Amino acid sequence: MLTIVVGGFFGDEGKGKIVAYMSLADDVAVAVRCGAVNAGHTVVFNGKSWKLRALPSAFVNRNTRLLIAPGALVRLDVLFKEIRETGSEGRVFLDFNTGIIEEGHVERERRDAYLSGKVGSTLQGVGAAMSDRVLRRLRLAQDFKELKHMVRDVPAEVSEALGKGLNVLVEGTQGTYLSLYHGTYPYVTSRDTTASAFASEVGVGPKHVDEVVVVFKAYVTRVGGGPLEGELPPEEVSRRRWDEVATVTGRRRRAAPFNFRLARRAVMLNSATQAAITKLDVLYPDASGVREWSKLPYEARRWVEEVESEIRVPVTLVGTGPDATQVIDRRKELGFLR
Ligand code: GTP
Ligand code: MG
Repeated sequence: MLTIVVGGFFGDEGKGKIVAYMSLADDVAVAVRCGAVNAGHTVVFNGKSWKLRALPSAFVNRNTRLLIAPGALVRLDVLFKEIRETGSEGRVFLDFNTGIIEEGHVERERRDAYLSGKVGSTLQGVGAAMSDRVLRRLRLAQDFKELKHMVRDVPAEVSEALGKGLNVLVEGTQGTYLSLYHGTYPYVTSRDTTASAFASEVGVGPKHVDEVVVVFKAYVTRVGGGPLEGELPPEEVSRRRWDEVATVTGRRRRAAPFNFRLARRAVMLNSATQAAITKLDVLYPDASGVREWSKLPYEARRWVEEVESEIRVPVTLVGTGPDATQVIDRRKELGFLR
């Protein structure tokens, strides 16, 4: 079964945590990371915390094979550091065609006043590398000697795993409204960030996608420039304990209350079959660490049900804390697990 996990707002919805949970709960055989190193996924597990910019968050499952999509872009220093930090040597593979970001790309973006000023880019060289790719100048994984032992045919591996009836998890990055096509242009990232784009980045056709899980946070955050409907002043953000610091840039995340209109549209743009909501414990402190739906405070349950009726897809996974295991999993009762 193939599942794609995508962000429903402006990124940082907690995809890393949801993917880590699913990799453990669903016996995921193969996980594929899409996107690039401008996205940081936080994984907390067994009392440790990781910030991943290249590897799939599914590394917490020691049996999962960790692949990087042909459409992804990585920096080699970041990749090797994360392999060491997660102890994932020997089970991380890149596609022949995965794009490699080099120092020159980072420098080019730092010199770009439009990107650093108006757009508020993370300046990780991703846009520059992406434009080189479009101009057919980017060097790919197959061009690097030090990657020789790690280069594979990712679409073929995914196809083979699906053929054997194994679970494959595709980890998208950023969020629907940072999409180059469907987001708040020009305050967007350098790629499409919806489910179809991630299928394409991996090299799997739409007919093989079984589930699309769109992840929302219980409130909306955004870093960098661009519109944020209902944005709260920083003092109010702190009063509500919604303060967050961006994983890659260390910038303070802007925040606004949950946006039903954007959520509904994200369900449409991704043809989501399920939704996950993270940080319910931040809206309802009594929900902290709860793992059963029936044990949630009444108000918290009511709010999730309101979201469900507004977005018209079931909320199957609910985050109640940063740890990968702090999840209420309603998939069985809602008829999703086969
Ligand atoms: P991008 O690909 O950059 O968009 O990242 P992401 O979607 O993986 O999210 P990121 O890890 O950057 O930010 C989410 C933050 O929320 C992290 O600090 C997580 O540890 C935290 N988090 C995720 N789920 C929960 C939850 O259910 N409760 C609490 N309290 N924290 C959570
Ligand atoms: Mg992030």
